[in-house]
Amino acid sequence: MAIIQLHDKKFIKYISSKEIDRIITKIAKQLNEDYMDEPPLILVTLNGAIVFAADLLKQLQFSSVLSCIKLSSYQGTTSTENMKTLIGLNEDVQGKRVLIIEDIVDTGKTYQTLAELLNQKGAKEIRIVTLTMKPDAYKLNLPVHYVGINIPDLFVVGRGLDYNGLGRNLPDIYQLYEI
Ligand code: IMP
Repeated sequence: MAIIQLHDKKFIKYISSKEIDRIITKIAKQLNEDYMDEPPLILVTLNGAIVFAADLLKQLQFSSVLSCIKLSSYQGTTSTENMKTLIGLNEDVQGKRVLIIEDIVDTGKTYQTLAELLNQKGAKEIRIVTLTMKPDAYKLNLPVHYVGINIPDLFVVGRGLDYNGLGRNLPDIYQLYEI
């Protein structure tokens, strides 16, 4: 279906499931090359990244400990300055490489909060892999190491990304459709 409705808003198909699968396979190949010798602890950001993480992890050929963390900064279709920790970090990251898995990097606030936390806890190396990124909205100097696809500063849903809780299950990515 090209146009769908979630709550009060319409969304139009933007990136096909097939294209996303190709992107994920390409990232997995790169990660397999970069991490085979010294695998990282993998930190998945809930809830959005679980769908991407599940697809990606199945293609990784190294053994890693998997952990999850839940921060929240979004209300509806806009990012807020209020970063809440809803589920904290319960793995020891001291002296370890850490790979954060994100569904989207928007302003970078979530990434910055995570990077600060991991630095405080003594992580040896912090990298991030994200399925999508909005370079025009990104406000940090921190490098974003692995990006599936860059998108314009538009609100998107699908493949784990939601609008007020809905849309995470959609295999394709949709963008906000405003007439
Ligand atoms: P940041 O902290 O501004 O980089 O935003 C990161 C978080 O905001 C992501 O993990 C998402 O949960 C949410 N987010 C940002 N942009 C979108 C979007 O276009 N659709 C759905 N969620 C988004």
